Amino acid sequence: MREDAVVTPGDGTLTITNPFGAVTVRGLPPRVASLLRELPGTLAGKDDLVARLVAAGGTDQEIALLLVTLDRLNPILVHAVDPLLRFVPVARDAVLRPPALDQGETVRLSRFALVRRSGGELVLESPLSRHRVTLTGDAMPLLAALGRAVMVKEAPEALSRLVAAGLAYPGDAEEADPALRTWDFHDLLFHGRSRSGRHDEPFGGTFRFLRELPPEPARKPAPTGPAVHLYRPSLEDVTATDPPFTTVLESRRSVREPAAAPPTIRRLGELLYRAAGVRRVSGPASGVPYETSGRPYPGGGAMHELELYLVVGRCAGLDPGAYYYDPFAHRLIALPAGARDADAMLAQAGAAAGGLVRPDVLITITARFRRMAWKYSGMAYATTLKNVGVLYQTLYLVATAMGMAPCALGGGDADLAARAFGLDWATESSVGEFLIGEAPHGTAGP
Ligand SMILES: Cc1cc2nc3c(=O)[nH]c(=O)nc-3n(C[C@H](O)[C@H](O)[C@H](O)COP(=O)(O)O)c2cc1C
Repeated sequence: MREDAVVTPGDGTLTITNPFGAVTVRGLPPRVASLLRELPGTLAGKDDLVARLVAAGGTDQEIALLLVTLDRLNPILVHAVDPLLRFVPVARDAVLRPPALDQGETVRLSRFALVRRSGGELVLESPLSRHRVTLTGDAMPLLAALGRAVMVKEAPEALSRLVAAGLAYPGDAEEADPALRTWDFHDLLFHGRSRSGRHDEPFGGTFRFLRELPPEPARKPAPTGPAVHLYRPSLEDVTATDPPFTTVLESRRSVREPAAAPPTIRRLGELLYRAAGVRRVSGPASGVPYETSGRPYPGGGAMHELELYLVVGRCAGLDPGAYYYDPFAHRLIALPAGARDADAMLAQAGAAAGGLVRPDVLITITARFRRMAWKYSGMAYATTLKNVGVLYQTLYLVATAMGMAPCALGGGDADLAARAFGLDWATESSVGEFLIGEAPHGTAGP
């Protein structure tokens, strides 16, 4: 049984508490109850326990009660194939029912399975599996062979259990499954791990580093460099002159061929302020032990870990080059990016938008990953990508209302961006790209 299960005796009951809930069993004979109390952290299987009960003089009725109870506890029972593998259940509905495999059949490791170090152990996992398998050194030859194919008769028990756990497949069964065919390895892993239900890792707003690390501040320490203060529109004026919301929403389009004339620095300032400028900062407060900020777009936990960088090809009143947007002071800070990197970023972004023109302004969205990971377990990066989506839409809507040419991009070179903006890739790097120009007459805008 999982070693974190706790068996608590009550008045004629046994309650087995585990990471997925609690099971209460009533009216167990003392012999069966004492067997179950010893279970947490042990590998005793069904046959083992029945044999021990029989040896202790257990009756048929006691054996039947033991088996029914073990069925209820299946999702927390650890199954062992000695001396190779230990199958530890990691989800509420984990059940291991080894199929009868033909001895002449072959089995292959799932292409979604991975081996990694977890604590002091080597484990085999897959988003398709509700079990984590702990590997011993003896399991290595079998694992290596499973990269190709192993005949069932060579390791029948291990193979049928790996198949039961969804970590290996007989023949071409995995390739033949239309639901699995189109998944990339990393996408399925990310899907499985960034939602709850299929793993036993901590999940949600756990504040996992609360006592170890200070939270990243709401305001990123601005890079040093010449600052360009931007135009800050009056929101009252904008409200009075903006087209109606539904007109903006219904006329929003991705515009990949902007007008011949580039945007001005004043219009760029207005766009950035309306879409991404900081409106307020608060905290830390009780229950929210970190600074938060308020901006026009929502953000998971009000953490607002996203930062904006601009690569300017053409903008009236602003030199071409790379800039950091400081959303607190509403200013740009010129970065010493090499012209070659800035050019490469514009060229790649232009190609991603169909290669029709060289972009006037590329907005690169980066994330300060530590800000989210300090608070969230399992869902920090997924939340960041969702935050990119809402910022995209906010940029789209403000640009449309202003008669500019917006276009989101789905991919970019995070290494190149980190180099161009002087960032450490693992600490802060790009998670989104967005093109801005002026809308050609009649193609965009309300
Ligand atoms: C997340 C996301 C990624 C996108 N990636 C690209 C891209 O790489 N290249 C491109 O030309 N358009 C891209 N677009 C724009 C879509 O192609 C566009 O939204 C879609 O065709 C619908 O057209 P519309 O925006 O004019 O309504 C992207 C849009 C989103 C929301």
